[in-house]
Amino acid sequence: MNIYLIGFMGVGKSTVAKELSKKLDYKLIDTDDEIVAREGRSISDIFRKKGEEYFRSLERELIEKLSADDNLIVSCGGGIIKSDDNIDNMRASGHVILLDASPEVIYTRVKDNNTRPLLRKNPGINGIKKLLEERRPMYDRAFTHKVDANRSVKQVADDIIGILNV
Ligand code: S3P
Repeated sequence: MNIYLIGFMGVGKSTVAKELSKKLDYKLIDTDDEIVAREGRSISDIFRKKGEEYFRSLERELIEKLSADDNLIVSCGGGIIKSDDNIDNMRASGHVILLDASPEVIYTRVKDNNTRPLLRKNPGINGIKKLLEERRPMYDRAFTHKVDANRSVKQVADDIIGILNV
């Protein structure tokens, strides 16, 4: 079984995934990092030069490959749930944990970071609220477990370990 961490940008998927991989004997994969390494350019550059659709096709290819593997902790890009194939592949191969945080908490965590093209397009707390609203049904369809991510990394990681009993 794999453990997939999903949720909006800035909810803490990458840091919680690192903490979990330290505590459990699972290999850590970050989908954004994999894509950046494969393409040899940043996420912003991929969006700018090749477009969002191309980026989403790389995500789909990657999730299909990872879902054939075992004992991975996968920190997923926030838009991974925009593909039903990704939702199906993740649910068929592991636990899908939604990290859920309020728009206010997300905003304080992302406001000084300029690396996310979709937040540049949807700026400020209103942009976050709008995207969150659009995505809420997709996140809800995707998760097998949901955790409150308005708390510290350690609390969230401990919560997940408790829920999964691993
Ligand atoms: C995206 C989230 C980003 C990255 C890309 C698109 C999204 O990952 O994959 O900028 O559509 O929500 P993080 O959730 O790790 O910021």
